[in-house]
Amino acid sequence: MAVILEKVYYKYDVDDNTSEEYGIFDISMTVEQGRTVGIIGKTGSGKSTLMQHLNALYLPQKGKVTIGEFVVDRKSKDLKNLRKKVGMVFQYPEDQLFEETIYNDLAFGPKNLGLTNDQIENAIKGAMEDLELDFESMKDRSPYELSGGQKRKVAIASVLAMNPEILVLDEPTAGLDPKSKKDLLNLLISIKNKRNLTLFFVSHNMDDVFLLTEYVYVMCDGRINFEGSVDEVFQENKKLRDLDLGVPFSVEVLELLEKRGMYNGPLKPMELEELADLIKDILRGNND
Ligand SMILES: Nc1ncnc2c1ncn2[C@@H]1O[C@H](COP(=O)(O)OP(=O)(O)O)[C@@H](O)[C@H]1O
Ligand SMILES: [Mg+2]
Repeated sequence: MAVILEKVYYKYDVDDNTSEEYGIFDISMTVEQGRTVGIIGKTGSGKSTLMQHLNALYLPQKGKVTIGEFVVDRKSKDLKNLRKKVGMVFQYPEDQLFEETIYNDLAFGPKNLGLTNDQIENAIKGAMEDLELDFESMKDRSPYELSGGQKRKVAIASVLAMNPEILVLDEPTAGLDPKSKKDLLNLLISIKNKRNLTLFFVSHNMDDVFLLTEYVYVMCDGRINFEGSVDEVFQENKKLRDLDLGVPFSVEVLELLEKRGMYNGPLKPMELEELADLIKDILRGNND
């Protein structure tokens, strides 16, 4: 499903006529079906407020949100069918696990969709497989016994078990240890490739955004400050730093090499193998 936002405004304190403080302000974006977009911006810049418009948890006070065939504005009602198609993984999603067994936690959403027991089990197996969670050994265990990383995966599986067409991941690796973070990011990359999802990824980690997404929106004070392909956005190292944001590791290394007069090419984000090759070339004197 494609996602189109047209001049969307959302203010938390609607009664405060004096305040110019918007949660989000004049947001327009078009995301085609199957695309993967990153949303970056410092804390309080409006990322989560924006994401909660994608399943109509918030209705825009001005402007219009179109998700596939669903048009959402202030007057929209009956949004249940839209919410079935948009999977939301909120920050710290494991806080919403509440059933006694992992199976029941994962069955909750599909049951609400009215699926048969066989369909529910298949949906759960598919979602657990995508997150490398072993169905047989885990289904009857309590989600509370799991490690932080495993709990997070169960929480994400419970969203995938509903077979969403759009998946929103709001800081999905926040608070995990480095190994669990890396592990989860790799799984998200393979899930993206396997399921034909339109994916929104909110993150503070620029390397993760570079590895997972194709197009990036940079938010500041409730607005989109700038946007572009990952390559375009991450070459704007000065703009990003002005907004208190980081750059991918590779860009940071290229900045240092540039500062030392060893490199004067573009500050393009790249994977570590490519960076290593480039440094090898520089040391051999092949790069000017
Ligand atoms: N429930 C809320 N009530 C009032 N203001 C809120 C609420 N949630 C967020 N805000 C405000 O809206 C702005 C955007 O917040 P948020 O969307 O959470 O940003 P981010 O996810 O980028 O950290 C901030 O100024 C924040 O204080
Ligand atoms: Mg947030």
